Amino acid sequence: MRPHNFPSRSILAELLKLGARTCNGAGTRASSAGGHLELEVRSVKRALCGRASTLRPVVGAIGLEVVVLKKRLAGCDQRQSMSTWAPFANGHGPVSNGDGGGDARKERIAVIGSGNWGSVAAKLLASNARSQACFHDEVRMWVFEETLPSGEKLTDVINKNKENVKYLPNVNLGSNIVADPSLESTVKDATMLVFCTPHQFVESICKQLKGKVHPSAKAISLIKGMEVKPDGPVMLSSLITEHLGVDCSVLMGANIANEVAMEQFSEATVGYRSDTSIAKSWVQAFGTPYFHVAAVHDVEGVELCGTLKNVVAIAAGFVDGLGMGNNSKAAIMRIGLKEMIGFSKLLFPTVSDATFFESCGVADLITTCFGGRNRKVAEAFARSGGKRSFDELEAELLGGQKLQGVLTAGEVFQVLKARNWEEKFPLFATVHKIATGHLPPSAIVEYDQKARKLSTQVPVYQ
Ligand SMILES: NC(=O)c1ccc[n+]([C@@H]2O[C@H](COP(=O)([O-])OP(=O)(O)OC[C@H]3O[C@@H](n4cnc5c(N)ncnc54)[C@H](O)[C@@H]3O)[C@@H](O)[C@H]2O)c1
Repeated sequence: MRPHNFPSRSILAELLKLGARTCNGAGTRASSAGGHLELEVRSVKRALCGRASTLRPVVGAIGLEVVVLKKRLAGCDQRQSMSTWAPFANGHGPVSNGDGGGDARKERIAVIGSGNWGSVAAKLLASNARSQACFHDEVRMWVFEETLPSGEKLTDVINKNKENVKYLPNVNLGSNIVADPSLESTVKDATMLVFCTPHQFVESICKQLKGKVHPSAKAISLIKGMEVKPDGPVMLSSLITEHLGVDCSVLMGANIANEVAMEQFSEATVGYRSDTSIAKSWVQAFGTPYFHVAAVHDVEGVELCGTLKNVVAIAAGFVDGLGMGNNSKAAIMRIGLKEMIGFSKLLFPTVSDATFFESCGVADLITTCFGGRNRKVAEAFARSGGKRSFDELEAELLGGQKLQGVLTAGEVFQVLKARNWEEKFPLFATVHKIATGHLPPSAIVEYDQKARKLSTQVPVYQ
């Protein structure tokens, strides 16, 4: 670890010289020099960020210079990166508009949503768009417009400061982020659509986007939740495909947004339908040295992991709010994971057991049950003895962010009722009944007794 008072500017100058020398020399050396440079600069930035906020402009300036250098390195190294990923060879990439210009062949990324996670996703994507030649530089982000207490529009502030002051304060999203209050202009030319809004808004957004997306666009959903229709549950990736006629992958994982925003190491899982080149392009768009992305051929498995763990997190929050210890919480998490697997496989027999061992499965369950917003609000609910409503606590504790677990518990409960599965999934059913005031928070313990009885009787999910 470098001492905090080292002369960052001169180190940076040395790094830039190293990069420039390498870039002017053999192209094959550019990649490793670039990786080395990135590591060095990250440690410079980390050291500076730990210091007083007066150093922020210096950190910003370093970021800018690194971007310029990375672009140059990317130019040197293009042949190498294209050999590991050929984005336009399969017909899913952008189609040339005939102007012969390089830009027309680049993927153009749009993010639909700008909450806590939406903003972090935009930051990850913007950094890759800046540094990789296969992406168009600009990343457009749709913002559900609101007026801030200062009287300014949120989009104006994001565009001026490159910071989402409401949903992700104190984090620079990148110079190439453009906040756009219009859904239509956000997606107009985009070939990679990243959906990241609270799940209750997705259908209405899709209706507004119908017929407006680029003909060769592909999509990915980062949204946790499902829609329950009269003829059964519909996963959001399928809803997006149905409305917009685009291939839709998913990305889920142990990713508490604020930690990823601080560039702390974490992992995520892409679930893709069938085309591995689509999976590769999403991995390439999101992956960074601190955000490792792996792809699995199991959209429903990955999406259900991300969706159902929020229900288990509510149960974990109840346990915390009741003042129970680690053993109780671990038991709830284990039983919750079992119900997640059972429910997913009953709904979609193609779901693979292995998916639950990816970041989207057990890792996301752990992080959400210890650090997520669902756990936090459920803890407050149980502490109040169930007297304060989730709506009231959400408004008080989350500052505009949305809770997904209670809605999802309701959606899961509709499925349990419709299919007569209530007895098979006592944890899921009990969470819903507690959240809606039909049982006291302490019922989470009585539920545990019931689950134990059930598991000694018959295999629950057959
Ligand atoms: N925050 C995390 O740590 C995290 C991590 C992984 C996944 N996710 C998932 O990402 C998805 C998006 O969550 P988030 O954290 O980005 O959002 P958020 O809860 O932080 O913010 C709420 C967002 O909803 C918008 N909004 C409010 N009313 C709206 C309306 N009527 N129509 C459309 N938009 C409206 C707000 O402008 C804001 O952008 C959720 O499914 C969540 O489960 C979140």
